[in-house]
Amino acid sequence: MMDVKRYLSSQWIPIILCGLSVCCMQTEAQAGFTSIDCGGTANYSDVNGISWIPDSYMGAISSEGDAKYVDPPPYTTDPTPLSTIRYFPGNHSKYCYVFTSEHGVQKDSAYLVRASFWAGSAVPYTTQVPNRVTFDLLIYTDLWDEMNISLPQIDREDFREIDILAIRDSIEVCLVGKSTGTDIPFISSLVLRPLDSDLKYVDHMVQWTGKRPLLSAYRINYGAPSAQTYIR
Ligand SMILES: *[C@@H]1O[C@H](CO)[C@@H](O)[C@H](O)[C@H]1NC(C)=O
Ligand SMILES: *[C@@H]1O[C@H](CO)[C@@H](O)[C@H](O)[C@H]1NC(C)=O
Ligand SMILES: *[C@@H]1O[C@H](CO)[C@@H](O)[C@H](O)[C@H]1NC(C)=O
Repeated sequence: MMDVKRYLSSQWIPIILCGLSVCCMQTEAQAGFTSIDCGGTANYSDVNGISWIPDSYMGAISSEGDAKYVDPPPYTTDPTPLSTIRYFPGNHSKYCYVFTSEHGVQKDSAYLVRASFWAGSAVPYTTQVPNRVTFDLLIYTDLWDEMNISLPQIDREDFREIDILAIRDSIEVCLVGKSTGTDIPFISSLVLRPLDSDLKYVDHMVQWTGKRPLLSAYRINYGAPSAQTYIR
């Protein structure tokens, strides 16, 4: 809950709490879904029928980082985006994935963005503190979160979710680079999901929070068969 406190005191966002219900969209209805396998090599559908594309379809970003195969978490079923990472050893101040109108992004529409991080036992580079990777995540130019991942990662990936209103016809999700004093950043997957404007909390975001984003702080299982069930 440390993160929540930090966010409540920061410039972003009042409140939070996204239950499973809003996230469990029908897999058949993938309209507007973009699911990026960072470091991946080919398109595929996962066991849930979600279509993944490698980040080489996201413009120059894939050429700015290196890809590495990692052993995915034990609960996953092959193929999974958690079997590769993209990491950015260069000296740019940030490395950005950009969702555009090509991915259906429209100014003022609401989206869920989820980034996942699974390096498994170790990252393929030296970090400032052994067995710990720290770097920042940005949405547009605002700080989204400060990642602080202990290695080895156990059981399942770290992930961050945010619900935002697009401020233009594109959404930039950036990893802050090593040149700014953080560790070399890495990422496993990044997904974009359009949110229906009829959703209560989307309406709340538009009407009451000055269009500031909502962070997903905690997930409560309202009936998924197990804690390991992957949420789409
Ligand atoms: C992979 O998916 C992308 C995005 O849908 C598409 O543009 C591309 O043609 C696909 N590539 C192959 C080899 O099917
Ligand atoms: C970044 O790295 C490139 C290639 O290694 C180098 O040419 C360039 O001078 C570096 N830029 C800075 C600002 O350190
Ligand atoms: C990362 O987390 C560890 C353990 O909670 C903490 O000791 C450390 O100060 C954190 N590092 C950063 C940069 O936040």
